[in-house]
Amino acid sequence: MIVLAAGEGTRMKSSLHKVLFPICGRPMVDYVLDAAGSLGPERIVVVVGHKGEEVKDTILRAWPGAQDTVRFAWQHQRLGTAHAVMSARESLPEGDPDVLIMYGDTPLVTGDLLLRFVQSHERSGAPISVMTATPQDPGPYGRIVRNDEGHVVRIVEARDLRPEERHLSEVNAGIYYCRASLLYSLLERVDNNNAKGEYYLTDIIRLASEAGLPVNGFYCDDFSLVQGINDRWELAAAESIKRESILRDLAISGVTVRDPESTYVDFGVKVGPGTVLEPNTYLRGETSIAEDCVIGPGTELFDTKVGRGSKVWMSVVENSDVGEEVQIGPFSHIRPNTTLEKNVLVGNFAEIKNSVIGSGTKVHHHSYLGDSDVGQGVNIGAGTVTVNYDGIRKFRTIIQDGAFIGCNANLIAPVTIGKGAYIAAGSTITDDVPERSLAIARERQVVKEGWVDRRKQN
Ligand code: UD1
Ligand code: CA
Repeated sequence: MIVLAAGEGTRMKSSLHKVLFPICGRPMVDYVLDAAGSLGPERIVVVVGHKGEEVKDTILRAWPGAQDTVRFAWQHQRLGTAHAVMSARESLPEGDPDVLIMYGDTPLVTGDLLLRFVQSHERSGAPISVMTATPQDPGPYGRIVRNDEGHVVRIVEARDLRPEERHLSEVNAGIYYCRASLLYSLLERVDNNNAKGEYYLTDIIRLASEAGLPVNGFYCDDFSLVQGINDRWELAAAESIKRESILRDLAISGVTVRDPESTYVDFGVKVGPGTVLEPNTYLRGETSIAEDCVIGPGTELFDTKVGRGSKVWMSVVENSDVGEEVQIGPFSHIRPNTTLEKNVLVGNFAEIKNSVIGSGTKVHHHSYLGDSDVGQGVNIGAGTVTVNYDGIRKFRTIIQDGAFIGCNANLIAPVTIGKGAYIAAGSTITDDVPERSLAIARERQVVKEGWVDRRKQN
């Protein structure tokens, strides 16, 4: 099996390699490898060239099974798709009778479609098969030319179309299956005598047919599965198809998706049944949400786990662990490495970072907790701030079970507030407070009676 991914993808106008562009949070090429891998090949040879190291590293890091199955072949000069397949020759397993070839920029292809293609190839008895489809606008695709009996005889690239070929609407989907022994003998005869001056893989169809060999044309009646991505508008179109399919799968598994138009869920995100995704919700990266939660409206979660029955409303949560029956929001920001235990309430302009908040604790109204270990049943008053940073180093604040932090308190870390202790509103706490004590650290109020009238007389 060969996947071509060496091209420069100039139409993306990007320094990121085309096949690494994310679609629903995942590199495009990984979807192609999923489809290819579902056929259980012994080996998948990915042809790399332009930014090859980056492509290789990403596949090895992100695609499960890459270590066992994928080998990389280098195409040092980009002389065309036929030349790219040539470059894979040495890396193919010996004795594989047939080779499946596909392009790394066709991410909507499914394993099921590939299976039907391979089965059709086998049934046909032809030594070579090519997949075709009919898009609304054949635009940049290679056109399929059939003879009077309806057999595929050649492919004409869009730039090489002659006027009398302009009406052709069936296109080359870019997926081929060929007897290995035949493939390389055909490739050796491909020339670069065309508009682009490239060695076109598509020419093997004409060469086979001229040699009197039957070509099996497999028609895919759903063009959306085989559309290629060459520019960012096609990328957007593919992403919207993929996004819809992710949302559909969630809905069928029992998740309410209130507004599919404004809901964005990355590939691989898990959402339990009974959960409601409200409009304007983004679930990204390695996020998982248990059953019976309400997420959104207006919420973005990155790499976050949310327990059963929780509600996250108009808020952002990054790389954190949210327990069961927790409520967050509206308008809060939970930053990386935070754990909110069961029944925690966080809301109305609260920010929490790198902290553990014990069960039943309430963190409301304009507060900031950073680098803090907060026990159970603690009350964090409005405007509480942990002063965790002295400009050079960061320190932890410890607030033990049942403590009560009055409004507008500054807790200058490192500092420990003991179990059940009270901090008076407006205090700036610099020293540890023992269990069950009251700490007041503020100026005593002075009242000057009649001051206003005296001032006016002067
Ligand atoms: C190609 C087909 C076209 C088909 C379309 C389907 C050829 C000549 N044309 O056109 O008939 O309708 O795909 O999507 O094959 N690549 C390399 N090395 C190279 C050139 C390209 O590895 O030297 C890789 C690219 O990274 C890409 C794939 O091959 O993944 C296809 O190349 P691209 O330039 O996108 O071909 P299209 O113009 O789309
Ligand atoms: Ca392409």
